[in-house]
Amino acid sequence: MTEINKKLTNLLSKAQKGGGNQRVIAQYKKGKLTARERINILLDDNSFEEIGMLVKSKRVEVGNIDKNIYGDGVVTGYGTINGNNVMVYSQDFTVYGGSLGEEHANKICRIMDMAIKNGMPIIGLNDSGGARIQEGVSSLGGYAEVFQRNVLASGVIPQISAILGPCAGGAVYSPAITDFIFMSDRSSYMFVTGPEVVKTVTHEEVNSEYLGGASTHAKKSGVADFVFDNEIIVLQQIRRLIDFLPNSNQSKFKIKKSDVVFNKTIPSLNSLVPRDKSKPYDMRDLVLKLADSEDFFEVQKDYASNIIIGFLRIDGYTVGLVGNQPINLAGCLDINSSRKAARFVRFCDCFNIPILTLVDVPGFLPGTDQEFNGIIKHGAKLLFAYAEATVPKVTVITRKAYGGAYDVMSSKHLRGDINYAWPTAEIAVMGAEGAAKIIFKKVKENHLKDKIDNYEKNFSNPYVAASRGYIDEVILPSKTRLKVSNAFRVLREKKLKNPWKKHDNIPL
Ligand code: HXC
Repeated sequence: MTEINKKLTNLLSKAQKGGGNQRVIAQYKKGKLTARERINILLDDNSFEEIGMLVKSKRVEVGNIDKNIYGDGVVTGYGTINGNNVMVYSQDFTVYGGSLGEEHANKICRIMDMAIKNGMPIIGLNDSGGARIQEGVSSLGGYAEVFQRNVLASGVIPQISAILGPCAGGAVYSPAITDFIFMSDRSSYMFVTGPEVVKTVTHEEVNSEYLGGASTHAKKSGVADFVFDNEIIVLQQIRRLIDFLPNSNQSKFKIKKSDVVFNKTIPSLNSLVPRDKSKPYDMRDLVLKLADSEDFFEVQKDYASNIIIGFLRIDGYTVGLVGNQPINLAGCLDINSSRKAARFVRFCDCFNIPILTLVDVPGFLPGTDQEFNGIIKHGAKLLFAYAEATVPKVTVITRKAYGGAYDVMSSKHLRGDINYAWPTAEIAVMGAEGAAKIIFKKVKENHLKDKIDNYEKNFSNPYVAASRGYIDEVILPSKTRLKVSNAFRVLREKKLKNPWKKHDNIPL
């Protein structure tokens, strides 16, 4: 090797060492991998092309020149996931604690710009002490530059964040804007203000894990969309998600060859809904039966579990699934489930992913807690999301579809394209007992039972809605997969545009 080439090889090898052996060992001791190891797991073998490996901070404040490390604490570049192009950045905690300085931010911004221009997903692997203290306002500016790009990229390319270490202060707002947040259990945390500040201001004693660990964000706040036991699984599951998604809002469908028998009937579905109307059943059983290879990638599994959201494939095509879940809160819509599903519906609509809605909803959850916290505005978010969505929308009502919740859950009136109901469906303003008690207020208690039975016979069924054309067909449960796949096939080239507007004003 010539002297000049040797110099380059040495330089690149030095740059790849990041913050050096000691800090790499410290990283391992925390159960964490290095920035480059993470990229290698995330991407297809040997597909990573690094950009900006030799970038250095231009700030003298960072310390003496020997300490000024190549890469400035973030590894950036592009590669493929199962052959799909993606841009990626991976913060290197071994270099200045992965803190974000001006050049670090510039590197991230550069690949964000490339991702937007070239229409491909961007994946950020976050592991950072936040704004680089020595770079002061320049690092704050750097964050804002990233936020600005996150906003411009929203709805244009899928943006995915993995939190694999600390993510605190304003740094949380970039992942917050992205479409999906993955967290590794017990080795990552996110909060706006840390335990020390919390103690000073509110006198609460909390540790980082309780305040902003993966479990907190998966179950309490809903900030995390996916939590997995360790970062290797997180990275593998990001690969799985990318497999479901188009590269950008301009891409057509993503198709995965399916060996599923297209016109299969599924007799077990005929007995999924229990005879006793008050008994719950697991809507996930239906979801799995409809999904190719029973492969369902559930989003926010442990948050607002009265609604299920996630991705599946039907005949090889990605479909977004929203389903009421009768085993939790009887499948009621409440604040959290409305917000959860609304954001998901909007994601699907941005990226031309058709939506399948499975309905068994007794209504909105009553109570002061819900009203005081604004169920009116939050419930409206889901209604808004469905109403503005122009992607193919197929709905199956399995059992209850009462009141406003009937309207909201992708009803015909909100431009549902094909709406099915099972014979067990009950589509009405409210349940028979509640209705009879209101309209037959003056009827004596001992005659009320007849009135309730009467109401149930006349209204708690799918046939009134079908006679109005609000339900396209009442179908045997066993034929659901066949019907749904036929429906999505005929809707594949659907074209629908909303009136021109600068942007809408969803009730936030
Ligand atoms: C510069 C930082 C740094 C930072 C860590 N380091 N955070 N350098 N700016 N923000 C450096 C440390 O000096 C150390 O350098 C190395 O990274 C590893 O840090 P340790 O403290 O040894 O690691 P650990 O014990 O694991 O603790 C990690 C940590 C802690 C919890 C993240 O470092 C920490 O609290 N850092 C400060 C966090 C913070 O307050 N950031 C600002 C948040 S406000 P050496 O050379 O010793 O290895 C913010 C505003 C953004 O981010 C606003 C955007 C709008």
